[in-house]
Order: sequence, then C-alpha cells, then structure tokens
Amino acid sequence: QSTVYRAGTLGRRPAVPCDFAELERLAKRASSAEAWAYVAGGAGEGRTMRRNREAFDRWAIVPRMAAGAVDRDLSVELLGARLPSPLLLAPVGAGALMGRDSDLAIAAGAAATGTPYILSNQGCNPMEECAAAMGGTPRWFQLYWSKDERLVDSLIARAERIGAGALVVTLDTTVLGWRPQDLNLGSLPFAKGLGIAQYTSDPVFQEIVAERAGQPRERPRITLGAIRTLLAMSRNHPGRFWANLRSPIPRASVETFLDIYSNPGLSWEHLATLKRRTALPVVLKGILDPDDARRALEIGVDAIVVSNHGGRQVDNAIAALDALVRVREAVGPEPVLLFDSGVRTGADVFTAVALGADAVLLGRPHLYGFALAGAHGVAEVIRNVLAELDLTMALSGARTIAEITRERLRETGR
Ligand code: FNR
Repeated sequence: QSTVYRAGTLGRRPAVPCDFAELERLAKRASSAEAWAYVAGGAGEGRTMRRNREAFDRWAIVPRMAAGAVDRDLSVELLGARLPSPLLLAPVGAGALMGRDSDLAIAAGAAATGTPYILSNQGCNPMEECAAAMGGTPRWFQLYWSKDERLVDSLIARAERIGAGALVVTLDTTVLGWRPQDLNLGSLPFAKGLGIAQYTSDPVFQEIVAERAGQPRERPRITLGAIRTLLAMSRNHPGRFWANLRSPIPRASVETFLDIYSNPGLSWEHLATLKRRTALPVVLKGILDPDDARRALEIGVDAIVVSNHGGRQVDNAIAALDALVRVREAVGPEPVLLFDSGVRTGADVFTAVALGADAVLLGRPHLYGFALAGAHGVAEVIRNVLAELDLTMALSGARTIAEITRERLRETGR
C-alpha cells in the first residue's frame, strides 16, 4: 500500500479525501437533503450510530517496536476463497440516491481493488449486470427474506447463477427502523421504486405481480405506527408526500414489493431450511446476541456478520464492536465472524480484527466515495483504508492478519 502513501507525499491530490471527516463533509455537500437523510441517517436519536464510533475509542492499539514487519501480507482465506485483504463492501440499498447506476459503479470500484462486493437485495442494478461489471472478483448476494417463498428460491437461484461466493441473509430489517430524518422529509426511496431492481428483473416477481393484478388486493394491515408515519409525512412535506405516491415504476410492482419484500415473521425454522436450499456458503447478518450466534451455528451456517446495520434499525442498541467481543467470547475461536457498523479507517479494521473479526465490511464510506467520484472514488476509499491498515500493521509489528491479535489492544484507561 506504499503507493498510496508515496503518491500523497509527492504532491498528488487524491480524488477523494483521505480522512473520513472530510470525505463525509464533501459527500454531504454533493448530496440532496433526501439522499443524505437516508444514507447518513440513523435510527431514532442516533445513539446507536454514535455508540458504534465511541466503542472504537475505548480500545487502544499498543504498537510493538523493532518487530521486523518489513513485508506485510494482508490476504485472508474466507469461506473457501483467497481475498487480498479482510475488507468487503457491505450491501447498500437505494444507492442510486447518490448517483445513477450506483451498484454498477460500486461493483466496478470494488473489482478494481479485488475487493468483494455484497450485492444488496435492495440494489439499483440487477445482480447479473453487477456481476458482469466485477469480472473475476468475488461477489456475494444479500437476501431479505420475502413473504413469498417462491421469490426466496428465485433470488437464491440467481445468486448461484452469478457465481456468488456466499448468500448473506440479513435478519435485522424484517421491518424498517424508526428513521426520523426520512420521515421529516417525507422521502421514502422504496415507495418511489428506488432500490427494487432485483425484484423488477426477477421472473418470479413478475409472475407474482401478474397474479396479484388478477386478484382483489389484500387489505393492508393498518397499524398505529403506519398511521403516525403517514401523518408525519403529510404534515411536514405535503408536496413530497404526494410525489412519493406517484412513481415512474409501475405502481403494481412497487405495491407488490412493499407487501412482500420482507417477512416480519421470519423465524429460526425458516433459516434452518437454508442449508437444504443452497450449496452456497450461508452467512447470517445482523446478529448482536451471543445466544443468537450459537443458534445460528447450530443450524449450520458458515459465518455470522455481527452488525447493527450501521445504527439504522434500533436506537440505543448495543455498539456493534461491544457485541463482537461478546459473540467471539461465546462461540470460541473457530466460527467465522464478520463485523460491520462504524468502521471508518484502517486502524478500525485493525481493532475489529484484533477483537475477533475474520473480516470487516465497510458501509457508508464506500457510498461517500461513490457520491464524490463514482467507481474511482469507491476504489480510492478502499485503497486508503487498506493503506492505513497496512501502515498500522507495519508500525505495530504484525506481518499477517493472523498476527493481529487481542494482545495488541488495551482498553483505554488501563
Ligand atoms: C445499508 N445496509 C444494508 N444492509 C443490508 O443487509 N441490506 C441493505 O440493503 C442495506 N442497505 C443499506 C443502505 C444504506 C444507505 C446504508 C448506509 C446501509 C447496512 C450495511 O450493509 C451495513 O451493515 C452498514 O452500513 C455498516 O455500517 P457503516 O459502515 O455504514 O457504519
């Protein structure tokens, strides 16, 4: 990674800022208020999002001297594949809020660095096109469990056909969290038909839409939460509220999507069917409790992503890094644990790996890189994080990722 560093010291200005604060500031400037609320926003009062960062501050790296870490090897073996580093790009839905063809660009930026991209079920380009943009770089597919089991099978079959390296099932978003920033602006990307490309490109989904068109519509269940949401939207931004109801995507597709994209009744019985349904490695994303982690391992999943969805789902939830420590202690050294929520820098990757993560997912930072400079911006964000990880390893005496162990950290204040 010394190339990044050398380019910087030789006076070449990067396409995106090398520090997260400036990256975030410029990405905000480049975004509409609606895009920024959705992408940067968190659940409720934003406490989980803040806590994700504060948790990193409670751990300090203790550099070791004269350890001869001249050549570093950042590569890892993960679910049967050799990866150039322990970094993957997290699945992000509705990225097109930040620019056109977001998933094609992110896929290309990831591929330029050999970094796997986890294609979101709520993506803005069909997974087949994203896979084509990635060449031989690993792509995984992230699934939201539909109420319609036929759609679950169809999406899994498509993931298999694009050569996905794993199927990631996200558990923490069976309903969308309380997102006041979006509500205040009256902007709901999915209601506008943004982020439904995996659905509209799916033959089974099209059949379901057609079937429903021939049937009387299910009466939607009206909950108190839904009424409050609608009232808040119509009161604060009546213009946008009505605009949301008009959409360039056929209304029937959007409605079917909203009805079936997620199954709030998702249970361990559903998840136990996964290993029978696919030969792909199965990863469960969004686990925070040690008992849930044990349960996941009991049904034979191949890996877990410890994550609180970047603080977007439950306000005042446990910091993902604190959950990582607890889950690793509970499951022991063997099970494959991935981690996300709050990773911003190479030092953060180092810290998460030291606390037991086999690999780490980067969420908002790669979207900010995309917002500023498309595929190139994504690749630069990745290179910057990896350059800092590499330097941190050099300065801490770790030659390999396996050498980044818990002994290299102290809780601050001790
Ligand atoms: C997400 N995330 C997400 N996760 C998922 O499994 N499927 C999805 O479609 C999305 N969509 C999504 C959109 C946007 C705009 C964001 C910011 C996040 C969560 C994502 O995969 C990851 O867990 C977090 O982003 C990690 O936290 P940081 O790195 O953003 O703090």
